[in-house]
This record gives sequence, structure tokens and C-alpha cells, in this order.
Amino acid sequence: MGAAISRRSLLAGGAALPVAAIPGQAVAAAAGTGDAVEPFHGPHQAGIATAPQAHAVFLGLDLLPGTGKEAVVRLMRLLTDDARRLTQGRPALADTEPELAVSPARLTVTFGFGPGLFAAAGVTSPVRALPAFETDRLQDRWSGGDLLVQLCADDPMTVAHALRMIVKDARAFAAVRWSQRGFRRAAGTQAPGTTQRNLMGQLDGTVNPSNLDRSVWLGDGPEGMRGGTTMVLRRIRMKLEQWDAADRSAREFTIGRRLDTGAPLTGRDERDEPDFDRLNQLGFPVIPEFAHIRRARAADAGQRILRRPYNYDEPVGADGTADSGLIFASYQADIERQFVPVQRRLAEGDLLNEWITPIGSAVFAIPPGCTPEGWIGDRLLTA
Ligand code: HEM
Repeated sequence: MGAAISRRSLLAGGAALPVAAIPGQAVAAAAGTGDAVEPFHGPHQAGIATAPQAHAVFLGLDLLPGTGKEAVVRLMRLLTDDARRLTQGRPALADTEPELAVSPARLTVTFGFGPGLFAAAGVTSPVRALPAFETDRLQDRWSGGDLLVQLCADDPMTVAHALRMIVKDARAFAAVRWSQRGFRRAAGTQAPGTTQRNLMGQLDGTVNPSNLDRSVWLGDGPEGMRGGTTMVLRRIRMKLEQWDAADRSAREFTIGRRLDTGAPLTGRDERDEPDFDRLNQLGFPVIPEFAHIRRARAADAGQRILRRPYNYDEPVGADGTADSGLIFASYQADIERQFVPVQRRLAEGDLLNEWITPIGSAVFAIPPGCTPEGWIGDRLLTA
């Protein structure tokens, strides 16, 4: 009896403390980032046009042998339900840690279908594997996959919880092929809209398409893909030890942009248009012939790919060697027309190739968004 009373009085005393004296509550009062919600329903899936969140996991799943269309439909109904709830800050059905679901922190869950999923469901695939490129050193453990789940949020706990719920619900249908964790600057570190830096120190993400209806979202083609897009995911390792040895001007030549401002070598500000025709006093192009931005530029700005990359940084080796790079995610209406020509030019000649190696590669069709009654892929798989 005495113990119960003293516990109650302790609790009462605790509750009477001013909010600022209780660390948990003080944080909760200021937790704008944790409460922020991205809409789940709509014509397009979230996580593509969404301003990139700080943390991401890309999960590649392989359907278990014998998984047919009916099972794929059941899987997508289940995972859509998880995504619908978790992105809105509600626990998934049978959530084992419901308390972890209450801070969505702009969580988005984006699904992509690989060629293998279409084959299993008996539906013609809108995407096919990329051709081989000279510079590729692809490893199976980072490549392919039947189903992609891309989870992005401004909080790593939110991502970890959503990942675990999705993996548990997928377990009866699919095995994990790979998972890739990526990050950008922590939320709130920089003003919104600031271009992120990659681990080579460059501003990465300056030039992206301005009209997504033209270059990213599918307006025609199969009905079930309208409002959807395609995704290329490449894991690209950076040789940071060798990059350390390059001086600043070599680094700037490699990209064709300045390291401090991200301005083209012919301009002053990050957003200045590069002048690819300008020559220096010796008659050489100011932006070198094999600079990354010259080789990567799309001839028609309407054909640009949407890059939404994340950095990766895995445990350093015993000798201090970095295992770092870019999880390069690009979205485009048409992989063959938009992505492949750029990657081909880069593989044929890009100064950056000296310091980077593509070690993983996968392609996915990203179905459109769904209604509150629907599920991702509904029009595609039940046509
Ligand atoms: C680790 C690998 C890579 C690094 C470090 C890297 C870095 C950069 C940097 C610093 C820029 C200039 C700023 C900007 O516009 O974002 C850039 C531009 C660009 N990159 Fe990459 N990149 C990599 C891989 C790729 C790949 C694989 C592709 C496509 C196949 C690609 C396509 C582009 C495009 C289209 C642009 C914009 C070009 C323009 O100005 O029109 N990059 N990249």
C-alpha cells in the first residue's frame, strides 16, 4: 500500500514538472520534423517528386519460386496497406512496435516492379535489364531484384521500423536480395532546396528536369502504368583514396564545375548555364571535352533524367580504406531513350571514371499511385 502511494505521488510529482524540465516532452513540443507527413494517395507514388528526405533504404526482394499472379496481388495489397498506415504515422496491422510508428518524419514508401515480377504475374514487362557497359563491375549481391521497396524519411528510426514491418509482411512471398542504406544531410542542417553534396565533396543534383510531366511521368503506353515512371538504381563505389590524391583543379576539371559554389567553370553561380563552347587562351574548351557534365548533358532538356541520389558509407576496412559511394537513383519516362544514351556516353569517356566503379544495377517499373481503396499496381496486375 505504502509503495503504491509513493509511486503515485512520484508520478504526480513528475507530471507537475515544467515541460522544459522533462527532456522528452521538450523535444516533443519542438518535433516538427517527426510529425511531418507526406501524402500517400494520388496520381503518382510519393518518394520521387518528394523533396529528398535525409535517410533511405532501398530493398530488393526476389519472389519465392512458384509465386504467381494471385500471390503477387495479395503481397501488394498487404504492403500497400502497411505503407498507407506507416506514412501517415499509424502503426501497421499487427505492428509489433506500434510506438515506433507515431513519428512519420515525411516517410514515403515507393514500390517498383522488376522484370521478374512481371514474368511471375504473366504480364508484359515495361522494363528490361540495361545493356552491359564497359565500365561496369557489377556484383550479383547489389543487382537485379523482382520487387523494390524504397523507404525514405527524415528520421532513421522511422526508416528502420518501416523496413522491418515491410520485410516481415513480405516474408511469406519473397526473400531479401539486397538492402542498401543511404543518407543525405540531416533534416534542418541546410535551407530547404539547397543542393546536397556527395562524399567526393561535389554539389550533386543541380541540373534536374523542370517539367516532370514531360520527362518523368508516363502519359501514354499501357493504362496501368499511366502516372507511373521507371527507375534505374546503380550502386557506384567511389575510390576516395585515389580521389584524395587529385588536386583541386583536377577535381573541378573532372566535373566541369567548381567545388565551392558548384558553378560551371564558365560561370559564377551554381544555376548559371554552362557555356560548352567557351575556349581558354590556349584554345582549349574551358569545360573539358570529357568533363562529366558535358558527357552527361541531354541534347534535349525535356529528355533529362530525374536524379535523386543518396550517399552510402559502410564500415571502413582494417587498413582505413573507405567503402563509400553513391546510390544513384534516377527516374525517367523511358530508360532506353533517356538513361541509356547518357550512361553510354559516360562509359565511353568521362574523366570521373578514374575514380568511380558501378558495382550494382537494377531497373524497375514504378506503377502510378493509388486511391484509398486501391493498392499499388492494381491497374497493372488486374488488367
Ligand atoms: C558516383 C557517381 C557520380 C557522381 C559522383 C556524379 C556527380 C555529378 C556532379 C557533381 C554533377 C554536377 C552537378 C549536377 O548537375 O548535379 C553531375 C551531373 C550530372 N550527372 Fe552525375 N555523377 C555520378 C554518376 C552519374 C551517372 C551514373 C549518371 C547517369 C548515367 C549521371 C548523370 C548526370 C547528369 C545527367 C548530370 C547533369 C548534366 C547536365 O548538366 O545536364 N551521373 N553528376
